[in-house]
Amino acid sequence: MKSTLTVATQLLSSCAAALLLGVAAPALAAIDADAAQALAKKNDCFKCHAVDKEKKGPSYKKIAAKYKGKPDGEEKAIKNMTTASKVKLDDGTEDDHKVINTKDQAAIKNLAQWIMSH
Ligand code: HEC
Repeated sequence: MKSTLTVATQLLSSCAAALLLGVAAPALAAIDADAAQALAKKNDCFKCHAVDKEKKGPSYKKIAAKYKGKPDGEEKAIKNMTTASKVKLDDGTEDDHKVINTKDQAAIKNLAQWIMSH
């Protein structure tokens, strides 16, 4: 026969498991910083953007700050990296912005969220 203590311990550990699952689930939808950086690296984004210093383009911190509190930031970032919109380089010349070389919408969204997270 099981002692009350054993039953209580089992109950407790299944509660802990449920809690862990509850915590882990939203984490799955969180930003994958490694994937975002790998994608940016592969697409030469870091040639013009750094996380916290100005290069040819604004730093990701600056971009994030620009869109802080604006719900359309992510959408704007996605548009910017998928539609070759005209951008002004730091030397004043204009160019078409680089179009990201992937059709993976989830990966693009993840990168946009990563940029906005700075
Ligand atoms: C040749 C240089 C260059 C490369 C390469 C480049 N960018 Fe940019 N990017 C710029 C410049 C310049 C701006 C600023 C546009 C402006 O403010 O007019 C910009 C702006 C942005 C913005 C902000 C748009 C906004 O609405 O303010 C995002 C997001 C962005 N780039 C993401 C990326 C990503 C992701 C990549 C890689 C796929 C990338 N960039 C590659 C030069 C570059």
